[in-house]
Amino acid sequence: MNTETPFEQFLNQHDEEAWSAALATLLRSIHEVDRHATQIWFAFYPLPLFRALQQSDDPEKLAQQLLLQGDYELKDQIDTSHAFLYGHRFWPQVKKAVEQYADSFDETPGESLADVVLTVARLVAGELKKDESLLIGITAIAFMTIQQAGLAAFKAAPGTVAIDRKLAKKSPEQVLRERARDDSQGLLGFLKTVDKQWTVTWDESDARAKYRLRDGQDLAWGAASDQTRDWRAIDPRRIEGPIPVECRSASCGTCWVGVLGGAEKLADVGAREGKKIKEFGYIDTAEPKPLIRLACQAKSHGAVSIVIPPWNGQFGKYLRALNKDEAASTHEQSEPDRRADEAVN
Ligand code: FES
Repeated sequence: MNTETPFEQFLNQHDEEAWSAALATLLRSIHEVDRHATQIWFAFYPLPLFRALQQSDDPEKLAQQLLLQGDYELKDQIDTSHAFLYGHRFWPQVKKAVEQYADSFDETPGESLADVVLTVARLVAGELKKDESLLIGITAIAFMTIQQAGLAAFKAAPGTVAIDRKLAKKSPEQVLRERARDDSQGLLGFLKTVDKQWTVTWDESDARAKYRLRDGQDLAWGAASDQTRDWRAIDPRRIEGPIPVECRSASCGTCWVGVLGGAEKLADVGAREGKKIKEFGYIDTAEPKPLIRLACQAKSHGAVSIVIPPWNGQFGKYLRALNKDEAASTHEQSEPDRRADEAVN
């Protein structure tokens, strides 16, 4: 018996392609402060990976085969996965509005996913007397969270804000100014060539979450010198510094990060980083300075603000193989598990 609500049925009609089209439409209306953050969030929680795990006969085995480590399931972080968005500060109101909308949802023929997101974002914007551009990204995220976690789990989450009140009072312009700021190199800084230093902010909601690196160092190299906390106790993947690393040679995929501000100050993606980041499954683009990078490869030439995902894995090859031949899913062995075997072996 199908126990999905009409809203869940509506969401589940949308695959990765449909979501990409909706996001492309919505991005034009999303405030600059959350334009990158929204794209990063959708890269951090890919729908095809969720669906592959959901359809697998043995999701745990598949997760092991795809080397998934950390918190990759949205159902375990309904209130927190988006704490790096400016719109997160409106989460309690967005969550409530989405729940009410979901409960009374009646699909209107011809209404697209983007239309529905905009409708709810407008409702919340009106209620809060805020610009709707600040609510669109976080509303789209609420929809995807329901698609992956289910409406019941979504409703069961407390709906709290995970950043402190003082920070929540910053204006979008203030956040953008802080992201754009470069470190002063002193009075004669313009003469410096080799010893310029840059600040990397790795959590905008924590005033202490910064480390310094020298010009031309990669993001992971600089992070390793940060000995301010017991990193392993916070996240076992963090063997040194705030960014999880293993190989430092673009082989493991552990160190992926999103770049909220300053992507243009990172050196272009090199051939190896570009090839491996696609194989891992994190992003598929030919852009020289994308929003998702491997920290062990991305050399910095200025201050940047990054966000560190709570998990990592290697699933790109597997999802591509799955995509190529969905018709073979009637094989005796379940398709997701067979493809996992192929991708891994
Ligand atoms: S540390 Fe392994 S890919 Fe960067």
